[in-house]
Amino acid sequence: MSRSGKVTVVGAGFYGSTTALRLAEYNIFETVVLTDIVEGKSEGLALDINQSRSIENFETKVIGATTNAQGDGYEKTANSDVVVITAGLPRKPGMSRMDLIGINAGIVRGVAENIAKHSPNSVIIVVSNPLDEMTALTQLATKFSYNKVIGQAGMLDTARFTNFVAEKCGVEIASVKTLTLGSHGETMVPVPSRCTVNGKALSEVLSAVEIADLVDKTRNGGAEIVALLKTGSAYYAPSAAAARMARAVITDSNEVMPVCAWVNGEYGINGVYLGVEAQIGKNGANKVVETKLTADELASLKVAAEAVRTKQADVKDL
Ligand code: LAC
Repeated sequence: MSRSGKVTVVGAGFYGSTTALRLAEYNIFETVVLTDIVEGKSEGLALDINQSRSIENFETKVIGATTNAQGDGYEKTANSDVVVITAGLPRKPGMSRMDLIGINAGIVRGVAENIAKHSPNSVIIVVSNPLDEMTALTQLATKFSYNKVIGQAGMLDTARFTNFVAEKCGVEIASVKTLTLGSHGETMVPVPSRCTVNGKALSEVLSAVEIADLVDKTRNGGAEIVALLKTGSAYYAPSAAAARMARAVITDSNEVMPVCAWVNGEYGINGVYLGVEAQIGKNGANKVVETKLTADELASLKVAAEAVRTKQADVKDL
């Protein structure tokens, strides 16, 4: 199998390091660079991952880089094809993702500027929270074209919804299809009309009350894990989602995935980063793919768009 390309994962916390591991195990990249501001952390984790190569059978090399806000260390990330930004603080129990906006905006802006300098042709996948706002901020800070900056949330929220539906119905995960759009927060929009179990509409399999309960669980999926962990937030499902997006970019697969992408006209919504389905390839989000929504779902998507628009307008001053 031939390998090509370089992916950088910024931030070697649990989310970043697990993403780097998944990307390395795909065995499709030439190089995975993992960075962190804690001296030696990413180098140590890179060594550890590389030492698993003969067991897990992958050739991809992982490189660690200690970086700082002044930009030292970023030379090791130079000319990355894809960059996953996980930098920033996770939530603590009781916090909303939006409570992180002040602190994470400063961190993400600094990272984005350094990435733009060293990897001007990269596609950036943002996962830092609050997700929709940090994605908008990264585009502002890098001045990259909108398609080249995308956020990871819909893949994760959809995966959570799928898991809850499969558990509720007692069926295999592979027989369930779900979709969530909107924001990665209060205005997340699960789309029951696009959900099926063994090809049957969700509404034929579960009652409206049961569906509403699963929608609620999905919206609170991240917070439920934060409350249990007490320190830090989820990372296994989030890293699986981010790694798949990076894989779609490097393989130019043009897969349609729910992601946070720039919406300009689709669904009658203009000029905002929002969770929608988009075709992901080497240029990032090549195209937003509109799906058929019920009137209620469309109305909820518009509410989400206006909510994130207000917050995204704030980030330029953060
Ligand atoms: C979550 C965080 C990563 O939803 O946003 O788990």
